[in-house]
Amino acid sequence: MTHTMNQTDFGQTATDQLRNRLAAAGQEHTLQFWDQLEPGERAQLTAQLESIDVNRLNCQDEGSELDLDEATLTAPDQIKWSADSSEDESLVKLGEQMMSRGELGVLIAAGGQGTRLGLSQPKGCLPIGPVTGASLFQILIEKVVAASREFDCEIPVVMLCSPATHRETIEYLDAENWFGLPESCRHTLCQKTLPAVDRKTGRLLMESPSSLCLSPNGHGGHLSELVDCGLLEKLTDAGVTTLFYCQVDNPMAPLCEPGVIGEHLRNEAELTVLVTPRTSPEEKVGTVICVDGVPQVIEYTIIPEELAARRDAEGRLEFRAANTGIHLFDTAFLQREANHFSSLPLHQANKKVPHIDEQGATVIPDEPNAIKFERFIFDVFPRSRKTLVLEIDPLTGFAPVKNADGANSPSEVQGQILQANRAWLASRGLRVDEGVPVETVPMLTSFTDPEIRLGRRVA
Ligand code: UD1
Repeated sequence: MTHTMNQTDFGQTATDQLRNRLAAAGQEHTLQFWDQLEPGERAQLTAQLESIDVNRLNCQDEGSELDLDEATLTAPDQIKWSADSSEDESLVKLGEQMMSRGELGVLIAAGGQGTRLGLSQPKGCLPIGPVTGASLFQILIEKVVAASREFDCEIPVVMLCSPATHRETIEYLDAENWFGLPESCRHTLCQKTLPAVDRKTGRLLMESPSSLCLSPNGHGGHLSELVDCGLLEKLTDAGVTTLFYCQVDNPMAPLCEPGVIGEHLRNEAELTVLVTPRTSPEEKVGTVICVDGVPQVIEYTIIPEELAARRDAEGRLEFRAANTGIHLFDTAFLQREANHFSSLPLHQANKKVPHIDEQGATVIPDEPNAIKFERFIFDVFPRSRKTLVLEIDPLTGFAPVKNADGANSPSEVQGQILQANRAWLASRGLRVDEGVPVETVPMLTSFTDPEIRLGRRVA
């Protein structure tokens, strides 16, 4: 008898194949509510399950320190950059000229929510300007707008979002008219997700009968998306050669600073990593360390304690290059390495993840019950043929908002902004009385003109 394959047969066959694949991986429970699902729900679950490589989500114990061969580790060579080193005019000119030629693009990692800060919106919406109340998004975007006006060029901005922030980020930025960024320069993309697994059994956790528990795939996922949605190619075709990347949590990031770009160009680097001196072994920052001479970031969660605390003969931390999360990437480097983005390592974190049990009842855990997986953007660093490690003064480039209180809290960061702005005005001969809060805004200042006085130049 000839068998004619119709829609139902095909659906059944496809489901059987999926079921077999899942059973082989010990994940068949994900289909346990299948018979109760509507066609749309079945399609959603199938798409989620087919998009993941279950065999890659094998988990070892998270939190274990990295196994490093000590003999291969050295502190990286560093060049120092300071906002006041604008006396090196040739360097500043290099940066200015490349921006004028339209060769710079900006990437802002903004996939994080503001939950730790008590914010129900994306973290970028946090008001942080100590006088103006400008949001993190506003401060960073206005730096780009100011540079594009000063150097008479277009600088495309790609806001790198997650499913948790994408829609709200677009709504917020559209309502603010992207703070004056030309429409042709506005881009957003949304990273993909990865499923969470039970910490003890490795089984995929279900959020509902028709959905896995999913979370953003880490900022390494932004790189894959940049390629997959065609934006990297589009930017390269438009003449962009370098992408200035920063995290949305750092309003002090020296975005579009001609001197920083100049150092990247003069050193013919494919990748520049901005670092600041680590202040203590416990500081929650990644450390840039050379492994076999190649700079890479070792995250604070996995760096061996002894290594983080080791001191040199002068009593300084031996490995003291803190990753600021600010990087410059050559687009040619990213294009060359594009095939590797989806195979970057999967890092694990133990988290509390609400889910449903086998009866479909919701479980809210008190303890970390699950492992989430993430890819890190800095895992592409070892593939760079020439990496520049550029040290910056935290006062002019690094003040990330991380926590509601204490270190890296909004009030601490506002204090750092006030201090930096006061120093900037003093360097231009303007004295501000102690206790008077001052904030310089990008639209009324200049990247290059030391004579500029706040408010004198019309934006
Ligand atoms: C991060 C760096 C650390 C660095 C520190 C500096 C990582 C893993 N570690 O630590 O080396 O010293 O910043 O401040 O990044 N994000 C996404 N999508 C994601 C995950 C994160 O867009 O899936 C964005 C966040 O919005 C944020 C940035 O990436 O802007 C950093 O993420 P976060 O989890 O805050 O990293 P930290 O632990 O603070």
